Amino acid sequence: MSDKPEPESPLPDDADADAGADAAPEWRNFYGRRIGKTIRQSQRGYLSEDLGTLCPHGVAPTENPDRTPIEVAAIFGEARPVWLEVGFGGGEHLVHMAARYPQVGIIGCEPFINGVAMLLGKIRAAGVSNLAVYPGDVRDLFDVLPDGVIGRAFLNYPDPWPKRRHHRRRFVTQDHLLPLVRVLAPGAEFRVATDIPDYMRQALAEVPKAGFVLEAHSGTPWDDWISTRYEQKALREGRVPDYATFRKL
Ligand SMILES: C[S@@+](CC[C@H](N)C(=O)[O-])C[C@H]1O[C@@H](n2cnc3c(N)ncnc32)[C@H](O)[C@@H]1O
Repeated sequence: MSDKPEPESPLPDDADADAGADAAPEWRNFYGRRIGKTIRQSQRGYLSEDLGTLCPHGVAPTENPDRTPIEVAAIFGEARPVWLEVGFGGGEHLVHMAARYPQVGIIGCEPFINGVAMLLGKIRAAGVSNLAVYPGDVRDLFDVLPDGVIGRAFLNYPDPWPKRRHHRRRFVTQDHLLPLVRVLAPGAEFRVATDIPDYMRQALAEVPKAGFVLEAHSGTPWDDWISTRYEQKALREGRVPDYATFRKL
């Protein structure tokens, strides 16, 4: 991270359970959860001590209401490949990838503040320094990222929205995929993991329409994969993981 002044995040500096929820901007519809019932005292400490420096400048609508594009190299203090994880949950995959690819900078987005707090604990434990954490909606990041700056994107176990009338809330809709494809570099990889067959059906139909080609689709994960909390839950409940790799044309 660069040593610029701390940016604003959608959360106040002394983020706690109630404040985080109140501070969420009414910028656009978000149907998921932003906060759970409890955040441990230690996790409140991580949020107030670490999030300010890890959160990229100029992403939160409150900080950048004009949505002026940000300079991606400034996020990590130097030019390096930048990857993106959408909805990192508890952060297992994000921290694993950061440790595995120290030469890459990875931006993780997650509006559920309890997940952000879990990630911050994992970052401390792993000692990785190549992560940026936006505690909000990935669409805020899409607003301000310049074209073609992201080299790889991960969508692991996205919210399934099982009811048919809610399918349009899924990430694999053109409303989300077109902004994603814009910020990806030509040839960039987009990985999708899900345990919901109908979600993969929609991904296989919609992602290519946005400007990707399907490169691989199977029940075998990537060589550098680490199983996430949601994947473990899916396996316990008898659901079958499914993995697809797309590439931006
Ligand atoms: C089912 S969970 C999976 C979490 C994690 N990827 C895993 O595999 O354990 C989906 C996550 O996506 C997050 N999410 C939903 N909509 C999002 C959005 N617009 N931007 C960023 N994250 C989002 C949710 O808050 C939730 O934590």
